[in-house]
Amino acid sequence: MASVVFTPFTLPNGNVVKNRIAKAAMEENMADANQLPGGALFTLYRKWAEGGVGLIITGNVMVDHLAMTGPGGLVLEANTPLEPFKKLAAEAKQNNTRLWMQINHPGRQVFKKMGGKVLSPSDIALDMGKHSGLFEKPKAMTEEDINDLIERFVTTASLAQQAGYDGVQIHAAHGYLLSQFLSPLTNKRKDNWGGSLENRARLLITIAKKVREKCGNAFDIAVKLNSADFQRGGFDVNDAQQVVEMLSQLNVDLVELSGGSYEAPAMQGRTADERTLSREAYFLSFAKQIADTTRTPIMTTGGIRRLSVAQQVIESNVDMVGIASALALTPDLPNRWLEAPDIEGVIPVVGWKDKTLAGLATMAQVKRQLRRLGDGKKPTHNAIALVSLILDQLRAAKLTKRYRKQYANEVR
Ligand SMILES: Cc1cc2nc3c(=O)[nH]c(=O)nc-3n(C[C@H](O)[C@H](O)[C@H](O)COP(=O)(O)O)c2cc1C
Repeated sequence: MASVVFTPFTLPNGNVVKNRIAKAAMEENMADANQLPGGALFTLYRKWAEGGVGLIITGNVMVDHLAMTGPGGLVLEANTPLEPFKKLAAEAKQNNTRLWMQINHPGRQVFKKMGGKVLSPSDIALDMGKHSGLFEKPKAMTEEDINDLIERFVTTASLAQQAGYDGVQIHAAHGYLLSQFLSPLTNKRKDNWGGSLENRARLLITIAKKVREKCGNAFDIAVKLNSADFQRGGFDVNDAQQVVEMLSQLNVDLVELSGGSYEAPAMQGRTADERTLSREAYFLSFAKQIADTTRTPIMTTGGIRRLSVAQQVIESNVDMVGIASALALTPDLPNRWLEAPDIEGVIPVVGWKDKTLAGLATMAQVKRQLRRLGDGKKPTHNAIALVSLILDQLRAAKLTKRYRKQYANEVR
């Protein structure tokens, strides 16, 4: 009998995902010169659709071309041509796959080299130890900046709907802007947008509400949220539980639980506050705790590469399983599991002493495979981390130059 992982799931708005496996968001940095999707991304997304996942969540798409998580990222804002996004949607929706666009604003997590707007609830710079110089001190947002941001999220969501996406996922995890508002470590505001958890969550809640008003009930709305920041005094699992309750009131269709930030990369299985995460399904105990108290569907992502673990997630009252890295190295892992349930996915591990560099190298290992897939090649499972990191850095430098040249009038 097929595993419970391959049973359909009905979202609160009545839409159905054909199985419980989601390709979690992975920023590919593979956009064309105008921050638009092109041939390589079409090929990549078609591979995932053909590989058997029930749901694809795109890599994060920026709501503002002047606030980029990285070079070669996608941007969808007012006046963006929709055709390339429509084409991407058509490829990704093959094989009855559901498709959500992840929409994001990096806030203070913008590399200094990229330039642009560096905004945050308060003017607190990232602390990355000896790598802190990679980032600039952000500007505390004004009321006008906040209103502009809300508009941007709603515009991007509405354009995604017009381009044929089945829904959006609002990125409020991993230390990006909405997560900066949620965390008491980065949000020191004294107005309606800071202080109590209700105030810190106001921005996320307002955006989710306005997206629903604009896009209607048949359009799926999901949120990616940290189960915890994994920093002392940061956003914790009790906060997450309360925010899920607030989102539940808005009939949000799913909350994906992850964790961490650039300062504390728990999403890669490492914490800054010495809490231990499980070796696989890193956030499962948090996800279960929250799933047990809410009617909103919950998904957890992080460290999953075996069907038996995916099954354990679903049997823990969590509704969907998010998989990122393992689907870069084996894009048809779900189909393979149907044939051979014991097949294990592969997640690159880089054990270097410098944790920041190790984190960058891990990402580089995965992105290298995304580019191979986009080029129509097979992924390799034995790439050398240092080579991947160097290739990634060279490529990023080239793409950053291209970006700065394109927006020379707007980027400092
Ligand atoms: C190359 C790469 C890019 C990523 N980009 C995003 C992103 O754009 N948005 C996001 O929410 N998470 C992003 N993530 C995090 C993943 O969605 C996921 O939470 C994390 O990798 C843990 O899952 P995994 O162990 O299955 O990879 C990225 C991860 C990798 C490896």
